[in-house]
Amino acid sequence: MNILGIETSADDTCAAVVKNGRKILSNIVSSQAHIHSKYGGIIPEQAARQHIKNVIPTIDLSLKVAKTKLSEIDVFAATGASNAGVFINIIVGVQTAATLAHFLNKPFVLTNHMEAHIFANFPEHKSLRFPFLALVVSGGHTMLIWAKKHGHYELLGETRDDAAGEAFDKVGRMIGLKYPAGPKIDKLAKEGDKKGFDFPRPMIGSNDYDFSFSGLKTSVMTKIKFEKINIKKHKKDLAASFQQSIVDVLVYKTIRALKEKGSSRLIIGGGVAANSQLRVAFSKKAEKLGFEFFCPSLNLCTDNAVGVASLGYFKHKHKDVENPLDFDPVFKKGLGV
Ligand code: KG4
Ligand code: ZN
Repeated sequence: MNILGIETSADDTCAAVVKNGRKILSNIVSSQAHIHSKYGGIIPEQAARQHIKNVIPTIDLSLKVAKTKLSEIDVFAATGASNAGVFINIIVGVQTAATLAHFLNKPFVLTNHMEAHIFANFPEHKSLRFPFLALVVSGGHTMLIWAKKHGHYELLGETRDDAAGEAFDKVGRMIGLKYPAGPKIDKLAKEGDKKGFDFPRPMIGSNDYDFSFSGLKTSVMTKIKFEKINIKKHKKDLAASFQQSIVDVLVYKTIRALKEKGSSRLIIGGGVAANSQLRVAFSKKAEKLGFEFFCPSLNLCTDNAVGVASLGYFKHKHKDVENPLDFDPVFKKGLGV
């Protein structure tokens, strides 16, 4: 069964064809980063206009690469909910998928953006099965989820303010890096001293699974300002020390949740899951504590439509399909649509 996934919730126009939820036939991402980096973040209207321009050529290319005709697509899926995405953007992908599904008389599935980040793991890790603990860390979210079985999720905790990726982007801007700053901090940190600056580990000891990264960002700003830190000279150490703070909190709380749930599987997803330090830290823990650790390839951590198509397949299998004429454009928090 071939699923065409479409993702337009943020600043990338993405289309992918995935067979039976597990085999990637194509994965096309048309990035707008060069446009938004001028402004330090995503400008919703700009992004929506780019999505409209890009969506058909991106789908076209995904079909070509997959060597699949439109008539050979069995299910159309699109990101239909994200509590941090921009709604005007989501509409572009949803409307396109709904139109194709309606006129080709095929099933139409809406997917949640965070759930799709989780499902981006399924095609690459054939042995991945429920239940598992999932840490989803992106530009708009930080969520710790206990995934019992398909569609049955318990949200253990989430960010109370800035998401992990948002903190990377904001601190990056402070030290002169363009949006998205996460990958740039990751690179700089490799040559920096992670003990160079002593930044806090917010909420690391709190009795819950929530996160807060806004104070960490302020503490980096305060240090630079009041201690008159020479950014040029200390950029690498600032990057390494800030990154270590975030990684320490994410790893500590995730491992605590893993133990509490007695889970033998951990998966991560979302843009920040591409962070090399975070991946190494979890791999080491997995080896030491004996759990299975799954993370997607780097290009499947950041926004993509592979997760949308994979989730679309499993939702269709569970008969969780929509009427293409019925999509109700409202924001929904959490993991549903
Ligand atoms: O999942 P994603 O592509 O979009 C959202 O759903 O938000 O995540 C984008 C975020 C950005 O904040 C970006 O700076 C961050 O992921 N990011 C990283 C890395 N690669 C991307 N953060 C830290 N280290 C990375 N290597
Ligand atoms: Zn995302």
